Amino acid sequence: MAKSTSQFICNECGATSPKWLGRCPSCGKFNTMIEETIAPAKSGIGLRASSNKKPVPLSEVEREKFERKRSGLDELDAVLGGGIVPGSLVLIGGDPGIGKSTLLTQVASNLAQTEKVLYVCAEESCSQVKLRCDRLGLNAAHFYLLNETCLEDVEPSLAGARYVIIDSVQAVYTDALSSAAGSVGQIRECAAKLMRIAKAQGITFFIVGHVTKEGALAGPKVLEHVMDTVLYFEGEREDNFRLLRSVKNRFGSVQEIGVFEMTEKGLVGVKDYAGLFLSDKRGEAAGCVVTPSETGNKIVMVELQTLIAKTAFGLPRRMPLGIDMNKLIVLTAVLEKRCGIPLFNQDVYINAMGGIKLTEPSIDLAVCLALASAFKGIPIDAQTAVFGETGLTGEIRGVSNADRRVNECIKMGFKRVVIPYKNKPSCEKYKGQIEIVAVSSLWQAIKAVLPE
Ligand SMILES: Nc1ncnc2c1ncn2[C@@H]1O[C@H](COP(=O)(O)OP(=O)(O)OP(=O)(O)O)[C@@H](O)[C@H]1O
Ligand SMILES: [Mg+2]
Repeated sequence: MAKSTSQFICNECGATSPKWLGRCPSCGKFNTMIEETIAPAKSGIGLRASSNKKPVPLSEVEREKFERKRSGLDELDAVLGGGIVPGSLVLIGGDPGIGKSTLLTQVASNLAQTEKVLYVCAEESCSQVKLRCDRLGLNAAHFYLLNETCLEDVEPSLAGARYVIIDSVQAVYTDALSSAAGSVGQIRECAAKLMRIAKAQGITFFIVGHVTKEGALAGPKVLEHVMDTVLYFEGEREDNFRLLRSVKNRFGSVQEIGVFEMTEKGLVGVKDYAGLFLSDKRGEAAGCVVTPSETGNKIVMVELQTLIAKTAFGLPRRMPLGIDMNKLIVLTAVLEKRCGIPLFNQDVYINAMGGIKLTEPSIDLAVCLALASAFKGIPIDAQTAVFGETGLTGEIRGVSNADRRVNECIKMGFKRVVIPYKNKPSCEKYKGQIEIVAVSSLWQAIKAVLPE
């Protein structure tokens, strides 16, 4: 019989090594190598009977009919792409105490009104979950709780369940591996096992995932690969507002966001969040500007705030919150080279209000103008909004849905909007309602919002 051997696997990056190392050679982290047993390969490899599966022409593949199930929380349904897809795996990551268990308890109780839902509480005891349900006023006939951490022991309880909640994937383990729960190997194996169960039995899984200090999901990357949908639940813990956004969705757009408020009675969806990403002090301080940004099929007005401070020593810092670091580096270089705004000896801090993440290229112009305003020390008018993509030559390129963006500016009471010249024709219809300034270069845009 083949002997079982072991290898060492890095808890942080998943690199493997045949012997223990104090420092992972791949990611450089200390004390992260954990021993993992490699199960001996089953004997008789190569003698497996063939499965007799033949390729099928696309036209003959039967289309599976599925109906999305409403979770009872409209914001969650929107983020999922219109409801829960049966047999899918949904991973929800988020900081400690942000409200992952609260969200899923609410979803579970809504779904359990009609169908069997199993809540596997691996982190808490059943009575703790019960306590939460009582506080939130939740009760449902088909809501089952199971306090179990071994996946093999969970399996028999899955019979008849349509929805299963695993809280959390870091707390469960499988007997197939000897390493501790939460290690890279365990998470990978558990995720694969859950996927097999989901696809074979048509059970929908909601899985809670912890995040690392850097904000990424803890565990190996395959955890995200095997999931159908990966959601992040985020927000400032001191603040009551929470954002739910999707970073991967096999059944819908990843642009949609859901806004919730944490209340005594649990998470309540916030429908009207138009003013949530704007501050009251707009127009008073230099370095702030508002941009209409597209998230899913909604346009939200988001305020960008920047701060520039002279570098005390060493390299200048670039600290973007809510926008991409590389984007900020490129845009500071464009400002420096094309508009003569030297930022090489300045620390740059930038923040998208309300904790929203902005990924669109249309926010480029807002970032540049906010930085220019902060550098010059001149505030941008509170009634002005801007959008447009900035090229490396300092030109302003057109963006999608310009007319809808201008329309949102009008609805939110803005008096003036700076747009790319390319988008001018599509926005002509709003001429009487708002002052439209069309620009083709960054320099023109700076002159339009900072007259001096
Ligand atoms: N009585 C209460 N009134 C209002 N909010 C409460 C109350 N009790 C708890 N909360 C909120 O619920 C949050 C905890 O929610 P929950 O346990 O769902 O978080 P979690 O993301 O599952 O955390 P963990 O990572 O520890 O499992 C608290 O941080 C708090 O904001
Ligand atoms: Mg929890």
